Amino acid sequence: MKIVMLGAPGAGKGTQAKMISEKYSVPHISTGDIFRANIKNGTELGKKAKEYMDQGKLVPDELTCDLVVDRIAEDDAKNGYVLDGFPRTIPQAEALTKALEKRGEKLDFAIDIEVPDENIVNRMSGRRACVDCGGTFHIKYNPTKTEGICDLCGGKLTLRDDDKPEVVADRLRVYHEATQPLIEYYEKEGILKSVDGTVDLNDVFDAICGILG
Ligand code: AP5
Ligand code: MG
Repeated sequence: MKIVMLGAPGAGKGTQAKMISEKYSVPHISTGDIFRANIKNGTELGKKAKEYMDQGKLVPDELTCDLVVDRIAEDDAKNGYVLDGFPRTIPQAEALTKALEKRGEKLDFAIDIEVPDENIVNRMSGRRACVDCGGTFHIKYNPTKTEGICDLCGGKLTLRDDDKPEVVADRLRVYHEATQPLIEYYEKEGILKSVDGTVDLNDVFDAICGILG
């Protein structure tokens, strides 16, 4: 099963992608997580990506597309994957479609998690994220068993640099401008499914499972 997650920053893409990945045994591939791991490890890619991420801007397509195209060609992705945070621009979506076409494949679902902007800032300030495994929690809506420690891998939880309210506002602007048009793109492809992302995260997951079957 090949799935793309759509939705504003903070809509719950990462949260749901992790749950999908476990239930359907497909890898969770998050470009944001890949960039953050590169930043943590001080790689050249990490240095370049950080400049953009800290400002809430998109990392240029040329640093992003090949990375994903290579990643989905790996062995663990042969039965599918859940892409989280990619594609994020029309050129990225086109690059993905083209890469899949070359291999005679296509996406099965694009799932859009709908959350209005008003709810987003509140969610971001309470988010805690694990840099080791990409696990995402919330101090109020999805707390960990031990404060500050990832339930999934035991790693240390941190606040993301781009979760400051002023950066969140920029990320939302970029989302509406560059990423929202993907909803129409995938609607035209006939694979768009939308879910209400404002309800409890387990109810969002139930709705998604109802779609995926
Ligand atoms: P990325 O890491 O992808 O961030 P994002 O899209 O801004 O989305 P988030 O990870 O912030 O939110 P999410 O939807 O995953 O929500 P989450 O599950 O955490 O990208 C970061 C940056 O990297 C970008 O700004 C860009 O610079 C760069 N980048 C990445 N990919 C790129 C690409 N393809 N091209 C170019 N640049 C790229 O949930 C949020 C919080 O809410 C959590 O605390 C969670 O516990 C909580 N929550 C989740 N669901 C619910 C619920 N139903 N009710 C209550 N709380 C909930
Ligand atoms: Mg995320």
